[in-house]
Amino acid sequence: MGMIRTLRAVVRIRRRERDRTARRLRSAANVDDLRSMARRRLPAGVFDYIDGGAEDELTLDRNVRAFRDVTFRPRVLRGLGAIDTSTTLLGHPLALPLVLAPTGFTRIADPAGELAVVRAAGRAGIPFTLSTMGTRSIDECAAVAGPGARLWFQVYAWRDRSLISGLLERAAVSGFEAICLTVDTAMLGRRERDVRRGFTLPPEIGPGTFLDGMRHPGWTWRLLRSDPIRFSSAEGLVGQDGTSAVDLAGYMTEQFDHGLSWEDVAWLRTVWDGPILIKGIQTVVDAKLAVEHGVEGIILSNHGGRQLDMAPAPFDLVPAVAEAVAGRIEVICDGGIRRGSDIVKAVAAGANAAMGGRLFLYALAAAGERGVDHVLDLLRTGTERTMALVGASTVADLGPELLEPR
Ligand code: GLV
Repeated sequence: MGMIRTLRAVVRIRRRERDRTARRLRSAANVDDLRSMARRRLPAGVFDYIDGGAEDELTLDRNVRAFRDVTFRPRVLRGLGAIDTSTTLLGHPLALPLVLAPTGFTRIADPAGELAVVRAAGRAGIPFTLSTMGTRSIDECAAVAGPGARLWFQVYAWRDRSLISGLLERAAVSGFEAICLTVDTAMLGRRERDVRRGFTLPPEIGPGTFLDGMRHPGWTWRLLRSDPIRFSSAEGLVGQDGTSAVDLAGYMTEQFDHGLSWEDVAWLRTVWDGPILIKGIQTVVDAKLAVEHGVEGIILSNHGGRQLDMAPAPFDLVPAVAEAVAGRIEVICDGGIRRGSDIVKAVAAGANAAMGGRLFLYALAAAGERGVDHVLDLLRTGTERTMALVGASTVADLGPELLEPR
């Protein structure tokens, strides 16, 4: 009897929790609302790690502002039929010109972490990129990816190249489609919010974190109930078992190869058969070099404003880069995407797709997997609505004539 009563109570609590999440999500009209929810739910140190950028955070702001500074030139009376947001990228279809960016330590937002994001991306018909500093492994992500899901893998340049080739072998076996090599991280940027808090990863429980955790019992309870957060791909590479706290800046300085060059991209070709994208291109001249070195795509990115402060906003680079590469490789615009209208602007300016990380991290922190479904739905419907309002029924109709020249 007692047992049945307990089970009923658990079911009731779960149902109430689900209803509360659904109610919360109904009132989240945009990414900024999800960010506010994430701020309330996360310990301050964790929120700041996700939300913050390098130094004065000028590039962090600029990434977002670049989109806001450009208005549309909407066309009307074009006899639009149904709006179709689908397109192709690397020769495969996607439902929306959006790719989910690699983010390290995703499980600090919510213990469901990468697995929730893989599933939500699969349902939304867009690729998800697993970070090497991710907290679920290549195999775990592949195991939950439904049929037709597209998985990409991001790599850093470890000095020890065998670490990279080992990971890529696993990614190939697990059906990952493409890799991106991050090239903007010769050293870790100085995130001053983290410096002030002495933030470590995974969060180490000291008196400060303890108090912060007590103020956010939901997050702490979920974390304590789940298995320990570890660097799953990098297991054995970071600390002894991937669970020990690290000083990220120190780790990257020690382990990553600052001598990385275009020759290493040629080496990558010898250990990976599929498409290679370079993530962190920030100039037209490097975009041209990427074409010359035969990669399949570039991701215009300043690492979400987390590396070099005063780096250019990726969106501002799109027109000149698109002209320079002239359709020979894919161009993805990463950073500052907060709305479907930003995705439309990125593509109209000449990108093949947009990419974003914080947008799903805020959603994951706000409401777990349902939060990620919610934000991807907001972005899809926002893209569809914007296309209708600017007079474009397909992605192919999006061009620079729809944007006010800068
Ligand atoms: C890691 O890549 C980070 O941006 O924190």
